[in-house]
Amino acid sequence: MRVGLLTGGGDVPGLNAAIRAVVKHGEGQYGHSIIGFRNGWKGVVDGLSIPLTRSHIRNVLPVGGTLLGTARFHPHRNGGGMDAVLATLEAERIEALICIGGDGTLHAASKIAEAGVKIVGVPKTIDNDVWATDRSIGFDTAVNIATEAVDRIHTTAESHNRVMIVEVMGRDAGWIATTAGIAGGAEIVLAPEAPFDIDKIERFLKHRHRAHASFSIIVVAEGAVPAEGTSMSYETQVGKFGEIVAGAIGERLKVEIEQRTGFDTRVTVLGHVQRGGTPSPTDRILGSRFGVAAIDAISQGKTDVMTALHGECVELVPLSEVAGKVKRVPDELLAVARALA
Ligand code: F6P
Repeated sequence: MRVGLLTGGGDVPGLNAAIRAVVKHGEGQYGHSIIGFRNGWKGVVDGLSIPLTRSHIRNVLPVGGTLLGTARFHPHRNGGGMDAVLATLEAERIEALICIGGDGTLHAASKIAEAGVKIVGVPKTIDNDVWATDRSIGFDTAVNIATEAVDRIHTTAESHNRVMIVEVMGRDAGWIATTAGIAGGAEIVLAPEAPFDIDKIERFLKHRHRAHASFSIIVVAEGAVPAEGTSMSYETQVGKFGEIVAGAIGERLKVEIEQRTGFDTRVTVLGHVQRGGTPSPTDRILGSRFGVAAIDAISQGKTDVMTALHGECVELVPLSEVAGKVKRVPDELLAVARALA
């Protein structure tokens, strides 16, 4: 079979492990030809393909990013995009396509599947908010990086008696903020799932600094917002693809906290550091498992599905059930972060 492969949306560590697994397992076990497309859906529209062989995947397991390149591009939202995708797939004689991406890429994949293309989706995003899978490729590495950052911020916060705000990625869901906040022992975790009350934060910080500590760490997800009707005004600043302008909520909180408490406050915006560099073993393993599962699915004629981690097992879920939904942090996990303040 001629199997197409693309990585779309923001890059994450662990993508190369998935690409490697698709090529190795697809070629080695089934004799498929794997045709990579450069730069996500944009490369399919532009006809930028590259036949992948074992030489492309040598020594890629520890390498971050994606050897195929990626882009934020949605063919169904660009005039002529869908037709161009179908034309390229026909010209390349692609019989099935593996799409590794987050919500945007997988949404586009479900549209292309509706047009009759056999698709298997693979979830990746450091935000971990793809529906119907316990984990997405990239999340574990990002949590490790964010936790290390919070650990490092701790010592400087304590030395200077400061309030330190660490802004992490997560526009619709606060998975990185909540888990790195718990792992790093943050006093306050702010996630999009639980809009915050700045008055409560002010009272908490004043009490804590009066009673027993001279420093505090706040981990805030970029998509966190004040609760409606509370006393802090804030408008989320978003870019062309709905991505949140980095530093907006962190900087805004800094001003508010300094004005209200008088405490010396600093902000660290982790930004793309969370997406770069060496993937953790967990992400390499997850990418490898999803890559193998995607090839097995295609080879067994199971398409229009997404690979998903459920507990200890990789399973397949219908692609149509995934698109457009956000997997939010459960209340129980948010409550743990609050309980350990
Ligand atoms: O893809 C997820 C993500 O990392 C978000 O957490 C973040 O808001 C966004 O991408 C940043 O996008 P870009 O890399 O396009 O600036």
